Amino acid sequence: MSDNTVLKADNLHRHYPVSLGLGKGKAVVKALNGVSFSLMPGKTLAVVGESGCGKSTLARQLTLIEQPSSGELFINNEATARLNKAELKHLRTQIQMVFQNPYGSLNPRHSIAQSLIEPLDIHTRLSKTEKRDRVHTMMKQVGLRPEHAARYPHMFSGGQRQRIALARAMMLNPKIVVADEPTSALDVSIQAQVLNLFMDLQDEYHTAYVFISHNLSVVRHVADDVMVMYLGRAVEHGSKEAIFENPQHPYTQALLAAAPSVNGHKTNLHLKGELPSPLNPPVGCALNQRCPYARAECGQTEPPLREWQGRQVACLRLEDISNNAQKAA
Ligand SMILES: Nc1ncnc2c1ncn2[C@@H]1O[C@H](COP(=O)(O)OP(=O)(O)O)[C@@H](O)[C@H]1O
Ligand SMILES: [Mg+2]
Repeated sequence: MSDNTVLKADNLHRHYPVSLGLGKGKAVVKALNGVSFSLMPGKTLAVVGESGCGKSTLARQLTLIEQPSSGELFINNEATARLNKAELKHLRTQIQMVFQNPYGSLNPRHSIAQSLIEPLDIHTRLSKTEKRDRVHTMMKQVGLRPEHAARYPHMFSGGQRQRIALARAMMLNPKIVVADEPTSALDVSIQAQVLNLFMDLQDEYHTAYVFISHNLSVVRHVADDVMVMYLGRAVEHGSKEAIFENPQHPYTQALLAAAPSVNGHKTNLHLKGELPSPLNPPVGCALNQRCPYARAECGQTEPPLREWQGRQVACLRLEDISNNAQKAA
């Protein structure tokens, strides 16, 4: 198999065995429950969904921090499950992660220079001078002064720390960066600057991004494609325009309805009740107990993702929903 994708997930699952407490036995959290997508060089897939839907779990599988329970992951068309240790070590240089809290990637006791040089020490044979030059170049590129390389993370603002974390992720010129809520902890005014930095670096290096966020205005700013997740699965996946201008899945419509400034009141769908627990997900469609369009079949049959109006949607009731919408219009 050879195509132009840098990252391809094929039916990824990640289930966590958990103990329910003394005498109550064990259970399985189905944190990730069959996610597939492919990503081209230089493009951004935004992954969006409420807290607990499996976004960070997906990020940990993509960055080889964990092994999926099942499914396959291809990086540069290489099936990661078949690689040996040395091959995996090399592959890890190609896919880097940026966390919500930069302390996930920056050691508070290391100077910025130390943090930025570390990946070069581990993975390259550059000379000392070459390493220092690379650190300075990267610092300038993320908008920091190279003279500050000897400073420690706590001496920078939150936005600057996230710039440093991004610089560290980019040190080895990775093909892919997975960013998990990278601007969620920042003030809104700073968020836009950091998002613009992500996009400038992508233009420069042609890096592919998996950009995880629960914030739809952030997603609209950065995405090429959008995957909407609910309880460990994709419910809708398509171009940014398809998802924002013409959302089809009831859950996507509800997410957009909850963010009127982003969607301009295109939908007004509201869901009943709360997000169910992934310990005990509903039978059939995971949304069926909350969805105003649900019928008996939705509580029995798990909807597969299918092609619908130029994107993929997992809903049994699409034909009826769109007929109703036409009648109402
Ligand atoms: N290591 C783990 N052990 C048990 N449950 C986990 C573990 N990691 C995540 N989960 C559970 O999996 C679900 C998805 O979590 P997560 O991927 O962090 O979601 P998100 O990032 O979208 O908020 C949650 O119910 C969470 O409690
Ligand atoms: Mg998370």
